[in-house]
Amino acid sequence: MSVARFRSAVSAPRRLVDTPAVRPTVDALIADLRPEDPVHCIRPTTLAATARDFIAAFPGDVLYAVKCNPDPAVLRALWDGGVRHFDCASPAEIGLVRTMFADAHIHFMHPIKARGAIREAWARHDVRDFVLDSHAELTKIMAETMATGVAGEMGLVVRLALPKGEAVLDLSGKFGADRDDAVALLRAARPHAARLGIAFHVGSQCLEPLAWRRAMDLAREVIQQAGVAIDIVDVGGGFPVAYPDVELPDLGAIVAEIEDGFDRLALPNARLWAEPGRALVAAGGSVVVQVQARRGDALYINDGVYGSLADAGTLAFRYPVRCIRPAGAASETLRGYSFFGPTCDSADAMRGPFYLPADIEEGDWIEIAQLGAYGACLRTGFNGFDRARIVEVSDEAPETGQTLLAA
Ligand SMILES: Cc1ncc(COP(=O)(O)O)c(C=O)c1O
Repeated sequence: MSVARFRSAVSAPRRLVDTPAVRPTVDALIADLRPEDPVHCIRPTTLAATARDFIAAFPGDVLYAVKCNPDPAVLRALWDGGVRHFDCASPAEIGLVRTMFADAHIHFMHPIKARGAIREAWARHDVRDFVLDSHAELTKIMAETMATGVAGEMGLVVRLALPKGEAVLDLSGKFGADRDDAVALLRAARPHAARLGIAFHVGSQCLEPLAWRRAMDLAREVIQQAGVAIDIVDVGGGFPVAYPDVELPDLGAIVAEIEDGFDRLALPNARLWAEPGRALVAAGGSVVVQVQARRGDALYINDGVYGSLADAGTLAFRYPVRCIRPAGAASETLRGYSFFGPTCDSADAMRGPFYLPADIEEGDWIEIAQLGAYGACLRTGFNGFDRARIVEVSDEAPETGQTLLAA
C-alpha cells in the first residue's frame, strides 16, 4: 500500500491510496506496516450491522447524513446494511452518492442552496426532495426547477427551528423557520409540492429522548395552525452513540417518544423520516495514531484537531482508546493522558483524559475508536499534516464506554 496525501472522499471519490485488501485485524495491520502516518480503519461489517439495527428499530425511512462520513467504503457498507436514502448537503455529496448507487433516493437537506446546485440536483441527479426554511429559498427552488416540466414531482420539506436544547452539539440558531414563518411556509409550499414535509434537528449527540417529544409537540402546533395536508415528518439526526462516561439512552426510548409524538399528530398517511449520521457510522471507524513523544502525562501524537480529532479539541470529546505495541505487552496499569496534535498551533490540544498504559512511550500506537463519525471527513492540510491512510479491517470494533477506562 502506498502512502498518499489524504483527500476527502467527496472531492475525490477515487482513493489516492491503493485500495488494500480487507485486513483481518488492526493489530496485524500495525505490526505489518508500522505506520508513521495516521491510519483510518473502516469496519464494513460493523457499519452494515449498525445500519440494519437502526433501520429495524426506526418506523420510517432512514436517510444517512452523508456529511458525517462520505468515504465510499462507508457508503457501500451502509448500502449493504439496507440504507437506500441519503441526506446530502452539497452537489459533491449528491454526485458521489448518485455515481455509486443509481437507485438511491437522494434528498437535498441543506436549507440554503446555490441556484446551480439546485439545478444540478434536479436536472442531472433526479433529486426531488428539497428542504427550505424561508420564502426566498422556496422562490429559488421553484425558479430553478420549473423549466424542466416535471414540477409535479417536487417534494418540499420545511425545516422548523427549535429552541436550544441539551444536545452536546447545539444546532439551533443557524437554520430553521420560527413557528409563524413555518406556518406561512407550509401554506405557501403546499400548492407546489407533490410531497410536503416538516423537519427539525434536535442537535447532535442528543442524550435526552424527551427532546424529540418536545420537537414533535412544536411540529404538531405548527401543522395544526397551518391547516394543510402533511406527507412527511422528518425527525432529523442527533441519535447519540457511546463515548466514555456517556450515559446512553436506549434507541428504543427515543423511538418510543418519536412514535408517540407521531401518533398524536394524527397523520395516518404521513411517513416518518430520520437523518442519522453519527449513530450509523461512529462505531464503524477508528484512527490509529503513533506516539511521537511523551512529556509526563502529555502524549504528542501524529493526528490532532486539524486532522480527524477536531471534536476531541474544542468539544473535549473523549473517545475509547487502546494501546497497540506489536513488540510486547504494555503495562496493565492505566493512567490519564492528554494529547497534543502534530501542528505547531498550541490550540492543537486534546485534554482528555484518555486512559492508556502507565508505561506508554514514543513509538507506541493508539487506536482511537468511535471515530467513524465527524473524524476523517474533517481533516485539513494545515501545517502539511495531511498524510493518512485508509484501510478496511474485518475485526470487531473496540469496546466503547467505561470498559476501556481505568478501573
Ligand atoms: C440537516 C442535518 N441532518 C442530519 C445531521 C446528522 O446529525 P447526527 O450526526 O447528529 O445524527 C446533521 C448534522 O449536522 C444535519 O445538519
